[in-house]
Amino acid sequence: MAQVHVPPHRSPGSVEPEPARTGIGLQVNGEHFQHTGDPQMPLLWYLRDVLKLGGTRYGGEHGESGADLVLVDGKARSAVALPMAKLAGRQVTTVEGLAQPDGSLHPLQQAFVDEDAIGCGYCTPGWLIAAADLLRRRREPSDADIDTLPNLCRCGCQTRARRAIKRAAKAMKESKA
Ligand code: FES
Repeated sequence: MAQVHVPPHRSPGSVEPEPARTGIGLQVNGEHFQHTGDPQMPLLWYLRDVLKLGGTRYGGEHGESGADLVLVDGKARSAVALPMAKLAGRQVTTVEGLAQPDGSLHPLQQAFVDEDAIGCGYCTPGWLIAAADLLRRRREPSDADIDTLPNLCRCGCQTRARRAIKRAAKAMKESKA
């Protein structure tokens, strides 16, 4: 005869309430947000689907094309590879946060325009973020430094992107002189 499992009796008062989700606090482009959804959600989907910041693009399952790069505490990181659980207390900057508060373009954005280094534009936000990280580490990057960036461009803008990064480096140096 099959045995019937009878759960132990619990009085209503003995049921422990689940703790309220406090969420994951982070800053995106200087604004505070609290993520109360799935802690394993990739940052890329949080940016695009929750915050509606569409500049950061899908760059492959492992971010291999560099289109999904964002700055996390100033360093370029793949947004598809970062779960929200790892972002508590972090500062995220997307391409939408690169421009100045008055709307003037970041020197890198201006240089990409000036060097005509934007084709369809899909890869451009990733280039700008990767280059911002590079210029933080190298004020005068060499071609070899730029060639270490992971960004791919299907429109063939690599040479112009390289010129744009050097142009921005020069402009940033002169503005600090
Ligand atoms: S500008 Fe089109 S992929 Fe780079």
